[in-house]
Amino acid sequence: MDNVTHNIILAPSLLAADFSIVGKQLAEIKEGGAEYIHLDVMDGLFVPNISFGTPVIKSLRKCTDLFFDVHLMIDRPERYINDYVGAGAQLITFHYEATENPRAVLEQIKAAGVGAAISVKPGTPVEVLSDLLPLCDMVLIMTVEPGFGGQKLMADMLPKVEWLAREREARGLDYDIQVDGGVGKGNAADCVKAGANVLVAGSSVMGQPDLRLAATEVLSAAKGIN
Ligand code: DX5
Ligand code: ZN
Repeated sequence: MDNVTHNIILAPSLLAADFSIVGKQLAEIKEGGAEYIHLDVMDGLFVPNISFGTPVIKSLRKCTDLFFDVHLMIDRPERYINDYVGAGAQLITFHYEATENPRAVLEQIKAAGVGAAISVKPGTPVEVLSDLLPLCDMVLIMTVEPGFGGQKLMADMLPKVEWLAREREARGLDYDIQVDGGVGKGNAADCVKAGANVLVAGSSVMGQPDLRLAATEVLSAAKGIN
């Protein structure tokens, strides 16, 4: 519940963008107050969908100064950390379920000089992350099954967010808490109330006709401003 030192950050997801006008869209979400662009990398193995990889991220780096929040939904992410850092990632999230040694992957990301974050799928209890929390700059709670945008937020994932906020407080830790999947103006305040401060928004922002307005509305809802 302690978000005093954790600013609310909007992270629209590129997955819902129109790639033919992506530079313009990135400028619009920035005007609407977004600070991050959430980049969903899918390999067709860890999740049943394929999205994009380093070439896309590298060229986007030339047209925006938004913070690059890379969400790796790939098997054995340790194979690719340096490639994503080279492409412009500033924060890398990987999945606890995707590797045999999550601690080593967190250390590898930190050694590469960018933010390190870990995520759990809906079926994985958040408590498995307990020993890893001191190494995390951010923890991502999936509020849908990873793989596709446009799904409905699973409200029963919010207790995981509450647990992370309590652990942070009790242990004097300092990670951000991100939620991803089905987040929009109707539930952003619930996510923040549970303890989340980094909100991914795919269809609710990048999929809207007026991106600037949609970003502003989700941020206002998250901050409890009407
Ligand atoms: C799902 C991705 C999400 C997705 C969110 O696997 O991790 O980041 O883009 O899209 P929405 O906000 O539409 O659920
Ligand atoms: Zn994501």
